[in-house]
Amino acid sequence: MKHLKTFESYNGIETKISEKTEENLNFLKSHFTDMPLTLDQYKERPHIHSCDSRLNGQLVGSCIFVIRDFKPNANEIAIPIDIDYKLPRVHINYIRTLEEFRGKGIGKDIIRKIVEWSKLNNVGIITANVKLDNMESQRLFTSYGFTKSGDLTATGSNTFYLVV
Ligand SMILES: CC(C)(COP(=O)(O)OP(=O)(O)OC[C@H]1O[C@@H](n2cnc3c(N)ncnc32)[C@H](O)[C@@H]1OP(=O)(O)O)[C@@H](O)C(=O)NCCC(=O)NCCS
Repeated sequence: MKHLKTFESYNGIETKISEKTEENLNFLKSHFTDMPLTLDQYKERPHIHSCDSRLNGQLVGSCIFVIRDFKPNANEIAIPIDIDYKLPRVHINYIRTLEEFRGKGIGKDIIRKIVEWSKLNNVGIITANVKLDNMESQRLFTSYGFTKSGDLTATGSNTFYLVV
């Protein structure tokens, strides 16, 4: 994997696995306006996790990911059938950085933290579904080293996966 830019060391941006708060939920909801998750569900469901990026305490990026311990439904995700499903899977549901901070490596820092967390938590694979026309997000995942898998034609997305 190629060297990853880390932004935090020289500009004060701190990225970490974070508390699940109304602030980071709303940060994502303001972009993903059809997100069905309520604050209570977000806070109470133990398999839902959050990672965020802050500059001087202000949110500049956030992500919700979930941990799953079952083989994915073929309609939900497209990954090769020869992958060993015995280990839990992390699925990245939502990731967003502030527009004025994009292209500076914050998205990659968030993914890097989730990969580190996954290694510590015995996760076998990380997946994400990305819309076919979302070039920035496709670039984020391929640039990190994720593999693009089959189309999910029903949702107009590709699955990206990384074996950890
Ligand atoms: C997708 C998103 C989270 C990426 O965040 P980011 O902070 O810009 O990501 P990074 O700065 O770490 O960039 C990751 C890679 O994508 C590239 N990239 C990011 N924005 C880009 C753009 N507008 N055009 C071209 N490349 C871009 C970067 O150059 C980098 O690749 P590189 O390391 O090979 O140079 C951000 O664009 C976003 O919030 N989009 C709106 C929400 C969204 O679509 N989320 C994804 C849903 S699946």
